[in-house]
Amino acid sequence: MNSILITGSNRGLGLGLIQHLLKQAISPKYLIAACRNPEKAEILQDIAKKNKNVHVLKLDVSDFNGYDAVVKTVESIVKDEGLNVLFNNAGVSSKFTRINLVKVDHMINNFTTNTVAPLMLTKAFLPLLKKASQNKISQPLGVSRAVVVNFSSILGSIAENEQGGFYPYRCSKAALNAVTRSMSIDLKPDGIIVVSLHPGWVKTDMGGAKAPLQVEESISGIVKTVMSLEEKHSGTFIQYDGKEVALVISIILGKYMKL
Ligand SMILES: NC(=O)c1ccc[n+]([C@@H]2O[C@H](COP(=O)([O-])OP(=O)(O)OC[C@H]3O[C@@H](n4cnc5c(N)ncnc54)[C@H](OP(=O)(O)O)[C@@H]3O)[C@@H](O)[C@H]2O)c1
Repeated sequence: MNSILITGSNRGLGLGLIQHLLKQAISPKYLIAACRNPEKAEILQDIAKKNKNVHVLKLDVSDFNGYDAVVKTVESIVKDEGLNVLFNNAGVSSKFTRINLVKVDHMINNFTTNTVAPLMLTKAFLPLLKKASQNKISQPLGVSRAVVVNFSSILGSIAENEQGGFYPYRCSKAALNAVTRSMSIDLKPDGIIVVSLHPGWVKTDMGGAKAPLQVEESISGIVKTVMSLEEKHSGTFIQYDGKEVALVISIILGKYMKL
Protein backbone atom coordinates (compact mmCIF):
# COMPACT_ATOMS: atom_id res chain seq x y z
CA MET A 1 0.00 0.00 0.00
CA ASN A 2 1.76 3.10 -1.30
CA SER A 3 -0.85 5.77 -0.54
CA ILE A 4 -3.62 5.48 2.01
CA LEU A 5 -6.32 7.87 3.22
CA ILE A 6 -8.25 7.22 6.43
CA THR A 7 -11.27 9.30 7.47
CA GLY A 8 -11.94 9.90 11.18
CA SER A 9 -8.33 9.16 12.05
CA ASN A 10 -8.06 11.23 15.25
CA ARG A 11 -9.40 8.55 17.63
CA GLY A 12 -10.79 5.03 17.85
CA LEU A 13 -10.20 2.61 15.00
CA GLY A 14 -8.99 5.32 12.60
CA LEU A 15 -6.18 6.36 14.95
CA GLY A 16 -5.42 2.68 15.66
CA LEU A 17 -5.04 2.11 11.92
CA ILE A 18 -2.57 4.99 11.56
CA GLN A 19 -0.51 3.73 14.53
CA HIS A 20 -0.52 0.14 13.27
CA LEU A 21 0.48 1.06 9.71
CA LEU A 22 3.43 3.04 11.01
CA LYS A 23 4.70 -0.07 12.82
CA GLN A 24 4.87 -2.12 9.61
CA ALA A 25 8.29 -3.09 8.26
CA ILE A 26 7.56 -0.87 5.25
CA SER A 27 5.12 1.84 6.19
CA PRO A 28 3.13 3.52 3.40
CA LYS A 29 4.82 6.28 1.42
CA TYR A 30 1.81 8.57 1.91
CA LEU A 31 -0.40 8.10 4.96
CA ILE A 32 -3.12 10.71 4.84
CA ALA A 33 -4.83 11.10 8.19
CA ALA A 34 -8.10 12.94 7.69
CA CYS A 35 -10.10 14.28 10.62
CA ARG A 36 -12.57 17.07 11.14
CA ASN A 37 -10.64 19.00 13.80
CA PRO A 38 -6.88 18.69 13.15
CA GLU A 39 -6.19 21.49 15.63
CA LYS A 40 -7.62 19.31 18.43
CA ALA A 41 -6.09 16.03 17.20
CA GLU A 42 -3.06 16.15 19.48
CA ILE A 43 -1.98 12.49 19.20
CA LEU A 44 -2.21 12.66 15.43
CA GLN A 45 -0.26 15.91 15.23
CA ASP A 46 2.42 14.40 17.42
CA ILE A 47 2.59 11.34 15.13
CA ALA A 48 2.86 13.60 12.05
CA LYS A 49 5.74 15.55 13.62
CA LYS A 50 7.69 12.31 14.04
CA ASN A 51 6.76 10.66 10.71
CA LYS A 52 7.28 12.59 7.49
CA ASN A 53 4.98 10.25 5.55
CA VAL A 54 1.95 11.24 7.69
CA HIS A 55 -0.12 14.14 6.36
CA VAL A 56 -2.90 15.43 8.60
CA LEU A 57 -5.82 16.79 6.59
CA LYS A 58 -8.99 18.56 7.65
CA LEU A 59 -12.06 16.67 6.44
CA ASP A 60 -15.56 16.76 7.82
CA VAL A 61 -17.13 14.00 5.75
CA SER A 62 -20.56 15.64 6.02
CA ASP A 63 -19.22 18.82 4.39
CA PHE A 64 -19.81 17.69 0.82
CA ASN A 65 -18.91 21.10 -0.61
CA GLY A 66 -15.42 20.75 0.81
CA TYR A 67 -14.58 17.52 -1.05
CA ASP A 68 -13.10 19.16 -4.17
CA ALA A 69 -10.54 21.09 -2.13
CA VAL A 70 -9.64 17.95 -0.14
CA VAL A 71 -9.10 15.93 -3.32
CA LYS A 72 -6.85 18.71 -4.71
CA THR A 73 -4.79 18.69 -1.53
CA VAL A 74 -4.41 14.89 -1.66
CA GLU A 75 -3.43 15.11 -5.34
CA SER A 76 -0.73 17.63 -4.44
CA ILE A 77 0.68 15.05 -1.99
CA VAL A 78 0.46 11.84 -4.04
CA LYS A 79 0.89 13.49 -7.47
CA ASP A 80 0.78 10.96 -10.34
CA GLU A 81 0.89 7.98 -8.00
CA GLY A 82 -2.83 8.24 -7.18
CA LEU A 83 -4.56 6.79 -4.13
CA ASN A 84 -4.27 3.05 -3.44
CA VAL A 85 -6.54 2.63 -0.42
CA LEU A 86 -9.44 4.71 0.89
CA PHE A 87 -10.67 3.71 4.34
CA ASN A 88 -14.15 5.19 4.83
CA ASN A 89 -13.88 4.82 8.61
CA ALA A 90 -15.57 7.94 10.04
CA GLY A 91 -18.91 6.99 11.52
CA VAL A 92 -21.54 7.97 14.05
CA SER A 93 -24.09 6.03 16.07
CA SER A 94 -27.21 7.65 17.44
CA LYS A 95 -27.92 6.95 21.09
CA PHE A 96 -31.65 7.15 20.42
CA THR A 97 -32.16 3.62 19.27
CA ARG A 98 -35.66 2.47 20.25
CA ILE A 99 -38.84 3.07 18.26
CA ASN A 100 -40.31 5.50 20.82
CA LEU A 101 -37.16 7.65 20.82
CA VAL A 102 -36.02 7.72 17.21
CA LYS A 103 -36.44 11.05 15.42
CA VAL A 104 -36.07 12.22 11.82
CA ASP A 105 -32.87 14.09 12.68
CA HIS A 106 -31.21 10.94 14.08
CA MET A 107 -31.99 9.03 10.90
CA ILE A 108 -30.76 11.81 8.60
CA ASN A 109 -27.63 12.43 10.64
CA ASN A 110 -26.61 8.73 10.63
CA PHE A 111 -27.37 8.36 6.94
CA THR A 112 -25.38 11.50 6.07
CA THR A 113 -22.18 10.34 7.79
CA ASN A 114 -22.44 6.56 7.48
CA THR A 115 -23.95 6.14 4.00
CA VAL A 116 -23.95 9.29 1.87
CA ALA A 117 -20.42 10.38 2.81
CA PRO A 118 -18.63 7.09 1.93
CA LEU A 119 -20.44 7.07 -1.42
CA MET A 120 -19.78 10.70 -2.31
CA LEU A 121 -16.22 10.72 -0.98
CA THR A 122 -15.34 7.64 -3.03
CA LYS A 123 -16.90 9.33 -6.04
CA ALA A 124 -14.76 12.43 -5.43
CA PHE A 125 -11.60 10.29 -5.14
CA LEU A 126 -12.33 8.18 -8.23
CA PRO A 127 -9.79 9.94 -10.49
CA LEU A 128 -7.02 9.27 -7.93
CA LEU A 129 -8.14 5.67 -7.27
CA LYS A 130 -8.30 4.99 -11.02
CA LYS A 131 -4.84 6.49 -11.48
CA ALA A 132 -3.34 4.23 -8.79
CA SER A 133 -4.96 1.15 -10.31
CA GLN A 134 -3.95 2.09 -13.84
CA ASN A 135 -0.33 2.66 -12.76
CA LYS A 136 -0.07 -1.03 -11.77
CA ILE A 137 -2.24 -2.49 -14.51
CA SER A 138 -0.04 -5.58 -14.91
CA GLN A 139 -0.64 -6.59 -11.27
CA PRO A 140 -3.70 -8.46 -9.95
CA LEU A 141 -6.45 -6.44 -8.25
CA GLY A 142 -5.72 -5.58 -4.62
CA VAL A 143 -3.99 -3.01 -2.44
CA SER A 144 -1.11 -2.53 -4.85
CA ARG A 145 -3.75 -1.19 -7.25
CA ALA A 146 -6.87 0.35 -5.63
CA VAL A 147 -9.21 -0.65 -2.79
CA VAL A 148 -12.10 1.08 -1.00
CA VAL A 149 -12.88 -0.19 2.52
CA ASN A 150 -16.26 0.89 3.88
CA PHE A 151 -16.43 0.47 7.66
CA SER A 152 -19.77 -1.19 8.15
CA SER A 153 -21.16 -3.12 11.12
CA ILE A 154 -22.77 -6.43 11.91
CA LEU A 155 -25.68 -4.22 13.06
CA GLY A 156 -26.21 -3.45 9.37
CA SER A 157 -27.01 -7.10 8.72
CA ILE A 158 -30.73 -7.71 8.31
CA ALA A 159 -30.23 -11.45 8.83
CA GLU A 160 -28.43 -10.99 12.15
CA ASN A 161 -30.98 -8.52 13.56
CA GLU A 162 -32.77 -10.35 16.35
CA GLN A 163 -32.92 -7.53 18.90
CA GLY A 164 -34.62 -4.71 16.97
CA GLY A 165 -34.02 -1.02 17.61
CA PHE A 166 -30.89 0.89 16.58
CA TYR A 167 -32.86 2.34 13.66
CA PRO A 168 -30.48 5.13 12.60
CA TYR A 169 -27.29 3.07 12.83
CA ARG A 170 -28.62 -0.25 11.52
CA CYS A 171 -30.36 1.34 8.54
CA SER A 172 -27.40 3.55 7.61
CA LYS A 173 -24.97 0.59 7.67
CA ALA A 174 -27.38 -1.70 5.77
CA ALA A 175 -27.61 1.04 3.13
CA LEU A 176 -23.82 1.35 3.15
CA ASN A 177 -23.64 -2.36 2.32
CA ALA A 178 -25.87 -1.68 -0.69
CA VAL A 179 -23.50 1.15 -1.68
CA THR A 180 -20.56 -1.27 -1.43
CA ARG A 181 -22.26 -3.81 -3.64
CA SER A 182 -23.17 -1.32 -6.38
CA MET A 183 -19.75 0.34 -6.31
CA SER A 184 -18.01 -3.04 -6.53
CA ILE A 185 -19.85 -3.69 -9.79
CA ASP A 186 -19.51 -0.17 -11.19
CA LEU A 187 -15.79 0.16 -10.37
CA LYS A 188 -14.72 -3.31 -11.50
CA PRO A 189 -13.78 -2.10 -15.01
CA ASP A 190 -11.51 0.49 -13.35
CA GLY A 191 -9.68 -2.18 -11.36
CA ILE A 192 -10.96 -0.97 -7.97
CA ILE A 193 -11.99 -3.44 -5.23
CA VAL A 194 -14.76 -2.30 -2.84
CA VAL A 195 -15.65 -4.13 0.40
CA SER A 196 -17.77 -3.58 3.50
CA LEU A 197 -15.84 -4.41 6.64
CA HIS A 198 -17.09 -5.20 10.15
CA PRO A 199 -14.25 -4.37 12.57
CA GLY A 200 -15.68 -6.57 15.31
CA TRP A 201 -17.08 -5.16 18.56
CA VAL A 202 -14.18 -3.01 19.69
CA LYS A 203 -13.34 -0.96 22.80
CA THR A 204 -13.60 2.59 21.44
CA ASP A 205 -15.86 5.53 22.32
CA MET A 206 -18.46 3.99 20.03
CA GLY A 207 -17.96 0.34 21.00
CA GLY A 208 -17.85 1.07 24.75
CA ALA A 209 -15.95 -0.54 27.59
CA LYS A 210 -17.82 -3.87 27.43
CA ALA A 211 -16.58 -4.64 23.90
CA PRO A 212 -14.46 -7.83 23.80
CA LEU A 213 -11.85 -6.63 21.30
CA GLN A 214 -8.99 -4.20 21.83
CA VAL A 215 -8.31 -1.73 19.01
CA GLU A 216 -4.95 -3.35 18.18
CA GLU A 217 -6.52 -6.82 17.84
CA SER A 218 -9.18 -5.56 15.45
CA ILE A 219 -6.77 -3.39 13.47
CA SER A 220 -4.06 -6.03 13.02
CA GLY A 221 -6.76 -8.35 11.63
CA ILE A 222 -8.13 -5.60 9.39
CA VAL A 223 -4.71 -4.80 7.91
CA LYS A 224 -3.99 -8.50 7.20
CA THR A 225 -7.44 -8.92 5.66
CA VAL A 226 -7.19 -5.81 3.49
CA MET A 227 -3.65 -6.73 2.35
CA SER A 228 -4.93 -10.09 1.11
CA LEU A 229 -7.98 -8.80 -0.80
CA GLU A 230 -8.40 -10.22 -4.29
CA GLU A 231 -10.86 -9.64 -7.12
CA LYS A 232 -13.21 -12.35 -5.76
CA HIS A 233 -13.71 -10.37 -2.52
CA SER A 234 -15.06 -7.25 -4.19
CA GLY A 235 -18.67 -6.57 -3.12
CA THR A 236 -18.47 -8.82 -0.07
CA PHE A 237 -19.05 -8.03 3.60
CA ILE A 238 -16.10 -9.26 5.64
CA GLN A 239 -15.04 -9.14 9.26
CA TYR A 240 -11.73 -7.87 10.65
CA ASP A 241 -10.46 -11.48 10.68
CA GLY A 242 -11.29 -12.09 7.03
CA LYS A 243 -14.41 -14.20 7.60
CA GLU A 244 -17.39 -13.29 5.48
CA VAL A 245 -20.41 -11.89 7.34
CA ALA A 246 -23.60 -13.70 6.41
CA LEU A 247 -25.45 -10.62 5.33
CA VAL A 248 -28.99 -10.67 4.08
CA ILE A 249 -29.69 -7.32 2.49
CA SER A 250 -33.18 -7.89 1.27
CA ILE A 251 -35.92 -10.40 0.92
CA ILE A 252 -37.12 -10.40 -2.62
CA LEU A 253 -39.78 -12.82 -3.82
CA GLY A 254 -39.16 -14.92 -0.72
CA LYS A 255 -35.51 -15.43 -1.61
CA TYR A 256 -32.59 -14.22 0.46
CA MET A 257 -30.09 -12.11 -1.44
CA LYS A 258 -26.64 -12.54 0.04
CA LEU A 259 -24.10 -9.72 -0.28
N1 LIG B 1 -16.18 0.14 17.73
C1 LIG B 1 -16.98 -0.81 17.31
O1 LIG B 1 -17.29 -1.77 18.06
C2 LIG B 1 -17.52 -0.80 15.90
C3 LIG B 1 -18.29 -1.89 15.49
C4 LIG B 1 -18.79 -1.92 14.19
C5 LIG B 1 -18.49 -0.89 13.32
N2 LIG B 1 -17.74 0.19 13.74
C6 LIG B 1 -17.48 1.25 12.75
O2 LIG B 1 -16.09 1.53 12.71
C7 LIG B 1 -15.88 2.92 12.40
C8 LIG B 1 -14.98 3.55 13.47
O3 LIG B 1 -15.63 3.40 14.72
P1 LIG B 1 -14.94 3.73 16.12
O4 LIG B 1 -15.32 2.66 17.04
O5 LIG B 1 -13.52 4.11 15.93
O6 LIG B 1 -15.78 5.06 16.53
P2 LIG B 1 -15.39 6.30 17.43
O7 LIG B 1 -14.38 5.92 18.44
O8 LIG B 1 -16.68 6.89 17.90
O9 LIG B 1 -14.69 7.28 16.37
C9 LIG B 1 -15.47 7.80 15.32
C10 LIG B 1 -14.58 8.60 14.41
O10 LIG B 1 -15.39 9.09 13.33
C11 LIG B 1 -15.16 10.51 13.24
N3 LIG B 1 -16.28 11.21 12.65
C12 LIG B 1 -17.59 11.18 12.98
N4 LIG B 1 -18.29 12.03 12.20
C13 LIG B 1 -17.40 12.61 11.36
C14 LIG B 1 -17.50 13.58 10.33
N5 LIG B 1 -18.67 14.14 10.00
N6 LIG B 1 -16.38 13.92 9.66
C15 LIG B 1 -15.19 13.36 9.97
N7 LIG B 1 -15.02 12.48 10.97
C16 LIG B 1 -16.12 12.10 11.65
C17 LIG B 1 -14.90 10.94 14.67
O11 LIG B 1 -14.31 12.23 14.67
P3 LIG B 1 -14.54 13.32 15.88
O12 LIG B 1 -13.53 12.99 16.94
O13 LIG B 1 -14.32 14.62 15.21
O14 LIG B 1 -15.94 13.13 16.37
C18 LIG B 1 -13.97 9.83 15.12
O15 LIG B 1 -12.68 10.05 14.63
C19 LIG B 1 -17.27 3.56 12.32
O16 LIG B 1 -17.68 3.63 10.98
C20 LIG B 1 -18.15 2.57 13.09
O17 LIG B 1 -19.50 2.61 12.68
C21 LIG B 1 -17.25 0.24 15.01
